[in-house]
Amino acid sequence: MGYDLDMPIPERLNPSFSPNRPTAPPRPDPVEAARKRLIVALDAPDARSALKLVDRLDGRCQWFKVGLELFTAAGPSVLQPLAKKGYSIFLDLKFHDIPNTVAGAVRSAASLGVRMLTLHAGGGPAMLTAARATLAGIENPPELLAVTVLTSMDQAQLSATGLSRPPGDQVEILVRMGLATGMHGYVCSSQEVATVRALTGPEGVLVVPGIRPAGADTGDQKRIATPADALQAGASYLVVGRPITQAANPAEAAEAIVREMGEALDA
Ligand code: C5P
Repeated sequence: MGYDLDMPIPERLNPSFSPNRPTAPPRPDPVEAARKRLIVALDAPDARSALKLVDRLDGRCQWFKVGLELFTAAGPSVLQPLAKKGYSIFLDLKFHDIPNTVAGAVRSAASLGVRMLTLHAGGGPAMLTAARATLAGIENPPELLAVTVLTSMDQAQLSATGLSRPPGDQVEILVRMGLATGMHGYVCSSQEVATVRALTGPEGVLVVPGIRPAGADTGDQKRIATPADALQAGASYLVVGRPITQAANPAEAAEAIVREMGEALDA
């Protein structure tokens, strides 16, 4: 068969080709999609060691979480090099105080250019409402995540604080409070994430710490899950600290987790 050389190349190679036929959008690479959903917890004693870790992890993840240890030691200036390198910043200071104080803290944090920040849902509806109201009028405000029950708390720890119901029931009460007060998302363990997802719908930002690859040391974490299980249960983002930061080779450890996440996303 001869080619009609006046025909454009796609039609010549495949006569049924139609330039008007809608083509499926290219499928995102699951490993690259996973990289955007891994948050590495930069729990380090000072800015120097934190930034050394960031350099070692270059390109392995999109997010870094700055929490109490690093922020207390290094202050807000530690966020600047992260932002300059294009990373998304999750400021995890877990505010829990009277509504007026938390509102002020949220206002200060919002000026630091962070994309997500945490406050304890246990602070109650007035505190959550005051925090949310503070964001009105702020350009590019951060998303407010309500911390439900810490992943280091099991039934015994919870009961010791006077809360006798199972952690899952407590999480549900706190998420309903968050939904009523305009929270953007929640921090919960993998064990509750499916229930929380059912409450929030697809737009809820669900951040899951307590992630341990199979065989990893659990440390002080109690309600844990593997990266694959947490994603399959409905997590938006996974927070991983020690399995990466304390590894002999943090970049390799991060890459293994990203690969496991990618396989789960692809499944
Ligand atoms: O080292 P590891 O992976 O256990 O670190 C988990 C990180 O997630 C820590 O920075 C911790 O502060 C944080 N986190 C948590 N449980 C929550 C909220 C935050 O472990 N409920």
